[in-house]
Amino acid sequence: MTNPEIKNPRAKHDFIGRTCSISAVGSYVPEKVLTNADLEKRIDTTDEWITTRTGIKERRIAADDEHTSDMAAHAAKRALERAEVDPADVDLIILATITPDMPFPATACLVQEKIGAHNAAAFDIEAACSGFVYALEIGQQFIMSRTYDTVLVIGAEKLSSIMDWEDRNTCVLFGDGAGAAVLQNRENSHGLLTACMGADGRKASILSQPGGGCLHPATAKTVSDRLHFLRMDGKDVFKSAVNAMATAAREALGRCELEIDRIKCIIPHQANMRILKAVGDRLGASEDQVFSNLERYGNTSAASVAIALDEAVEQGKVERGDLILLLVFGAGLTWGAAIIEW
Ligand code: UT7
Repeated sequence: MTNPEIKNPRAKHDFIGRTCSISAVGSYVPEKVLTNADLEKRIDTTDEWITTRTGIKERRIAADDEHTSDMAAHAAKRALERAEVDPADVDLIILATITPDMPFPATACLVQEKIGAHNAAAFDIEAACSGFVYALEIGQQFIMSRTYDTVLVIGAEKLSSIMDWEDRNTCVLFGDGAGAAVLQNRENSHGLLTACMGADGRKASILSQPGGGCLHPATAKTVSDRLHFLRMDGKDVFKSAVNAMATAAREALGRCELEIDRIKCIIPHQANMRILKAVGDRLGASEDQVFSNLERYGNTSAASVAIALDEAVEQGKVERGDLILLLVFGAGLTWGAAIIEW
């Protein structure tokens, strides 16, 4: 029987008798480790600055011949194996990324081929670092509406391919990797209870990759002007991130009539240790509640909370029946908070 103490906001809709749960998760990070000491040799920075300002010690960098679709496929295969789902039984693949293998076709289609999910529809979504929560919520809609029974949601990034390795303000922060979740109807679980998402296009310019779209198609000039690299006003992003994640978290908790102490594990987007701490403090959460693997991977954008969720489960930080709060924030600006009964 589903836990009667939990108020499920989705039960207000016509979805009674069906829930959307995460059957299993999986993740993948490339082998190559780039440490702060390695970066000290390339740019004007120090391990001390990076550690104290961000909490990051090292990040993973994909090989030259390893692309977003390859990392996504590894993570997806792990999640499908754990869920005991044959790839041929996947109905839909949703892949969140800002670093697709190419502008089109969708990287989700390349993953479909790599994992042998030949019966699945496939598309990409782009909500930057918020992508995984956006994709979970989209996938959830297909399950709840009974359109599909098995949806594979992936967050994957090769951010090293859009880093300006001469810009110390950004290149020390990001890393590569992928995480995946298998969504299915599961009896006796509330699954994804709610997701509050938001966006503010007025702040689109504070975090972007300006070149490569129809605004600035690739030319020799856009390349020499470095428009194909990620650009960020870190301070503005920092403030916006803390406010948006705390507000979205409160809204999600309110919808489910939950206090923060009922959440077993808070998994925020792994952007900066100071952001994680500030959000945790604003929510009145204890340090133990807030999960972090930022030290080892840096910011992996859409893959960030997916990898962290997989590690939290692996480390036994959450068990079936526990409540998890995912918090994300990224370019757009976009943000989101999702509450899941694991
Ligand atoms: O996924 C969502 C997107 N990203 C984020 O969430 C990032 C949000 N922002 C942040 O995490 C922080 O703003 C940063 C880590 C990016 C920067 O921290 P900060 O405390 O806001 O530093 P700052 O921008 O105020 O820079 C302070 C100083 C500057 O020097 P001056 O102008 O005061 O002389 C920078 O040039 O630190 C300098 N600096 C560095 N020094 C050594 C910037 N990057 C580095 C570096 N090494 N890598």
